[in-house]
Amino acid sequence: MEQRPGTELLKGSYYIETYGCQMNEHDSEKIAQLLEDQGLCPVDTAEMADVIVINTCAIREKPEHKVYSALGKLRALKKRKPDLISIVAGCVAQQQKQELLKRTDVLDCVLGTHAISELPALISRIRRERRRVCETEFRRDVTSLHMSAPRKGAGSVCSYVTIMQGCSNFCTYCVVPYTRGPEQSRQAYEIINEVQQLARSGVREITLLGQNVNAYGKDLKDGVRFPELLRQLSHIDGIARVRFTTSHPRDFHEDLAAAMRDVEAVCEHVHLPLQAGSDRILREMRRGYTYEEYLEKIRFLREMVPHVAVTTDIIVGFPGETREDFEATCQALQTIRFDQIFSFKYSVRPQTVAGSLNNHLSEDVKKLRLAMVHDIQSAITQQYHTDTVGSVEEVLIEGIRTATGQPFGRTRTGKIVNLEVSENVFIGDLIQAKIIKGLKHSLVGKKV
Ligand code: SAH
Ligand code: SF4
Ligand code: F3S
Repeated sequence: MEQRPGTELLKGSYYIETYGCQMNEHDSEKIAQLLEDQGLCPVDTAEMADVIVINTCAIREKPEHKVYSALGKLRALKKRKPDLISIVAGCVAQQQKQELLKRTDVLDCVLGTHAISELPALISRIRRERRRVCETEFRRDVTSLHMSAPRKGAGSVCSYVTIMQGCSNFCTYCVVPYTRGPEQSRQAYEIINEVQQLARSGVREITLLGQNVNAYGKDLKDGVRFPELLRQLSHIDGIARVRFTTSHPRDFHEDLAAAMRDVEAVCEHVHLPLQAGSDRILREMRRGYTYEEYLEKIRFLREMVPHVAVTTDIIVGFPGETREDFEATCQALQTIRFDQIFSFKYSVRPQTVAGSLNNHLSEDVKKLRLAMVHDIQSAITQQYHTDTVGSVEEVLIEGIRTATGQPFGRTRTGKIVNLEVSENVFIGDLIQAKIIKGLKHSLVGKKV
């Protein structure tokens, strides 16, 4: 335990519920570490906890609404345990601020995305002063960005490493710049120290996290940019794989593809959100690239990094999206043939430019378009999986399935491989597996 100077030890237990992206999952890991360092112990259910943290996501209406049902459950828990401390953290907290406290009396603390490191002190204060608190100021220097990785338990092979915080792109549909603040890169030496520390604790794969990782370093004076960071990380002993997400197409250039080609540890997978295939919609979204420019990036990437897997995000039903606009997106999927996509119905977000447009599409149209996109992509993904059958892939064993006892891991291209139960492999093993079956969402393999 590493108690933070100037803070008192806390008594009791904690439970965290997390929604949203990998960045939020990683923030929850940091919160857990902070609370444990102050003396709280983790428990498996909200019912057992003295402190409950709900780490929230505001990217679309649906994840946002999960918070309100979670708050409903809190009411019953609070009734049974009046000393329970309830905290809403993450992007909904940041967005709604005081409003959340006004909305419900069962909440003790609203913790903004820049205030994570203050949580232990805030809990002490709430217990001492019996007063509700809201901490949602944006800081120029976000302290949790400097926090070292949560200590990994034995057997953890994969770990996230935050390399930047926030986003300054302001795509017209997106809430993230408002909930995470402006883009801030973390110093390269801090990242390298953290990765060295992780490697010493047995971690073999790291995923570098940021909203726009290829803009890494633009705001720093030391001159280290993202491709250079990848090269520096490749010298760290013990790290077999480096992944990163998310890349923004506008900032994706040949120097990054070259680093992917040259640095062995960097996995052959890029998540490059296209969002839409129509130039008019891309312009309205303020994405900063045309469809042709995006295609050109895919062209050099596939040429320079053979067998690279490309995945993407697609939004259907952006305000004013016509039948032709939508068809351009469908055509893009057929032309590019992504390995996998994440597709979403456009969802109005408060504060955003697109939210105040007056040409929104009906829910029915959005639903229909989403289903069409799913159908197109399902066939493509299935074809990729079928084509992999017979090939031999490097798989890093990440865990054992509780239900079936099957060891599982991922290929360098990010595809899930389940092995047969009888395979004699251990978590952390880097093996060669022959793919024997290609399913809809995963592959089945056999160690060779
Ligand atoms: N920083 C990343 C994406 C972060 S959000 C990038 O720029 O690519 C993840 C995805 O959620 C986005 O790529 C987008 O496809 C989707 N998304 C964001 N806001 C949305 C909204 N208002 N409605 C529907 N989907 C949205
Ligand atoms: Fe949102 Fe655009 Fe920033 Fe991605 S780049 S987080 S979509 S504003
Ligand atoms: Fe959601 Fe915030 Fe991540 S809105 S997607 S948790 S950055």
